[in-house]
Amino acid sequence: LTDGPLVGKQVLVTSGPTHEPIDPVRYIANRSSGAQGAAIASALRDLGADVIFITGPAEVPPPTGVHVVQVQTARDMKEAVDAALPVDVAVFAAAVADWRMATPTTSKIKKKNGAMPDLKFTENPDILAAVSQLKKNRPQLVIGFAAETDDVIENATSKRDRKGCDWIVANDVRPETGIMGGSENAVTLISKDNADVWPRMDKTQVATKLAQRIAKAVTS
Ligand code: C5P
Repeated sequence: LTDGPLVGKQVLVTSGPTHEPIDPVRYIANRSSGAQGAAIASALRDLGADVIFITGPAEVPPPTGVHVVQVQTARDMKEAVDAALPVDVAVFAAAVADWRMATPTTSKIKKKNGAMPDLKFTENPDILAAVSQLKKNRPQLVIGFAAETDDVIENATSKRDRKGCDWIVANDVRPETGIMGGSENAVTLISKDNADVWPRMDKTQVATKLAQRIAKAVTS
């Protein structure tokens, strides 16, 4: 777009799950569909932003009119994010796997008479925390997500402090909410001294509202 409040702004959005290989045929994943991230990228594009969309293997297709970078693992995603910097705004909507196999095998793990495989894990890099805490090239506005099943606001508020991002979009992903993988979301936007509870609405509406907030914050 040549018109809109975000014209001339570089924005990166991470989205979707990551896949962490166990062996050549198996992987660790999560239930993220990529719907909320894709909707946010579309909404930011519609306000004129130049969007870099870094996505894991999502169910929903990436939006048109954005730069798409497809990745598999958390480490690939971190590399793509680092390569995209500097940007004005970074939105971390991806459901990044917290752990990966310490040593994925190059051959398929075989069953051996009832013995269980001994899977050892190691922690993935925290991309949101790393970008939030950059001394050089930190985006003006860094937004994280917090998918929680308990004490949503409390956990999300401490997550904001711990990671060092500006805003956290907190959502309740208890299975009975149908939010993960569904078309609606119920979020609370947490900033330094505010927790703004939004009513349950379509993920596309959440995206529009968030994009408007972003535009307001970076142009005021
Ligand atoms: O710690 P947790 O996974 O709950 O944090 C969620 C937020 O952090 C999301 O914004 C997610 O995109 C981001 N994240 C990340 N890299 C990780 C883990 C989470 O960017 N390794």
